[in-house]
Amino acid sequence: MAKLKWTVLLAIFMIIKYAYSIPDDIETPNKRILLISNSERGQANIFLATSQALLTNYPSVEIHWLSFPGLSDAVATVSESTAPQNAHPIIFHQINGTAYLDKVAENGINVSDLPRPPGVFGALSGFKNLPTLYVPWNGSEYMAIYNDITRTIEKVDPGLVVLDTMFTPAQDAVRQLQREHVLLSPNSLRDFSVASQPRGEMFWKFPV
Ligand SMILES: *[C@@H]1O[C@H](CO)[C@@H](O)[C@H](O)[C@H]1NC(C)=O
Ligand SMILES: *[C@@H]1O[C@H](CO)[C@@H](O)[C@H](O)[C@H]1NC(C)=O
Ligand SMILES: *[C@@H]1O[C@H](CO)[C@@H](O)[C@H](O)[C@H]1NC(C)=O
Repeated sequence: MAKLKWTVLLAIFMIIKYAYSIPDDIETPNKRILLISNSERGQANIFLATSQALLTNYPSVEIHWLSFPGLSDAVATVSESTAPQNAHPIIFHQINGTAYLDKVAENGINVSDLPRPPGVFGALSGFKNLPTLYVPWNGSEYMAIYNDITRTIEKVDPGLVVLDTMFTPAQDAVRQLQREHVLLSPNSLRDFSVASQPRGEMFWKFPV
């Protein structure tokens, strides 16, 4: 009797395991990709290139783009000039806020003045600008942008979000919503791996 009970339990377990192993996304794959970037071309160009490659090679993908209004013309140009006939045009969503570089300027930083002489003192005088350069928005502005991003992610419901490494509110939003995401950057991998060196080697061995 005990043996039968275990056999039945085992069978139920196998059925449940099988049911969970059937991929449920075969018939309706989520082919929406949401790109979220700053509008400055230094950061956005790599996104424009990526969207062009996606449109050309994967016309069945639906590309959505969230950024500040200053980028919408460039996105439209890429979409109109490269989208094959059967591809979806890129759908642009607008963030209601002040773009990164305008905000940096409002904080009194002129990017022409950013280059510093090499060495410790040159670096020290540059460090004071770092917090503003990472996040130029104040608390309420940051949250307004974060909320625009959250709303758009929920509305578009993408299978993948592609993020700009310099656009921190977007990184907060995808992590909070636990969305599948990748980071895209015009920098080399070295710039991100420098801090992974053991024994604080970023300070004395290979600093940059
Ligand atoms: C920024 O600095 C450059 C060079 O020092 C200068 O030509 C330009 O007018 C400055 N821009 C602003 C907005 O102050
Ligand atoms: C952020 O700056 C705006 C003006 O750009 C101001 O209205 C708002 O009160 C500021 N918020 C905080 C939390 O400082
Ligand atoms: C920006 O504001 C407009 C008008 O209030 C609104 O319709 C739109 O959804 C907002 N954009 C985002 C991304 O929330």
